[in-house]
Amino acid sequence: MRIEDATDADVPEIVAIYNDVIATSTAVFSDQPVTVESRREWLRAHRARGQPVIVARVDGTVAGFASYGEFRPWPGYSTTVEHSVHIAAAWRRQGIGGRLVRELLERARKDGKHVMVAGIDAENHASLRLHEQLGFRPVGRLAQVARKFDRWVDLALLQLEL
Ligand SMILES: CC(C)(COP(=O)(O)OP(=O)(O)OC[C@H]1O[C@@H](n2cnc3c(N)ncnc32)[C@H](O)[C@@H]1OP(=O)(O)O)[C@@H](O)C(=O)NCCC(=O)NCCS
Repeated sequence: MRIEDATDADVPEIVAIYNDVIATSTAVFSDQPVTVESRREWLRAHRARGQPVIVARVDGTVAGFASYGEFRPWPGYSTTVEHSVHIAAAWRRQGIGGRLVRELLERARKDGKHVMVAGIDAENHASLRLHEQLGFRPVGRLAQVARKFDRWVDLALLQLEL
């Protein structure tokens, strides 16, 4: 498995992974599938801002992707980033999510960032465990701030000082 910067050619596979997560879980608080064109624009915007979008490639297939972007859009928050990570269902629990987040942590350190924030659906035990294992600590829980599948969902906030 190799971790690499995402290319335009990876976008359809990224979209397939992301839309499956949207359709099957509360890990993303949307019920609208994304389009290849909108994700191309998202990739372009990340590149233009120097924010990484990385993929885990196994035998030429994108098994997962991860990225970080700004936490909040005011200058005082510029050394804090918020990230996300998604692994294709067939490739979960094989260490790929951990590898991708470790790479993001490395890149954020090199980029002079100070804190990485994870906002995780409070019922997403896999992601909570993954992040705690990597050194993120729980710092809060926002009750019922999101709604999906006709119910309220809490958002757990975790952070790691880089
Ligand atoms: C959450 C997710 C990113 C984890 O990625 P992954 O590649 O499957 O995780 P890893 O194999 O690197 O696991 C690392 C650790 O996370 C925890 N973990 C991962 N999946 C788990 C599960 N299903 N149940 C419990 N713990 C889990 C374990 O502590 C694991 O370490 P271990 O295997 O030594 O016990 C992946 O399941 C996923 O993409 N899920 C759908 C989308 C999503 O939830 N994204 C995160 C949004 S915040």
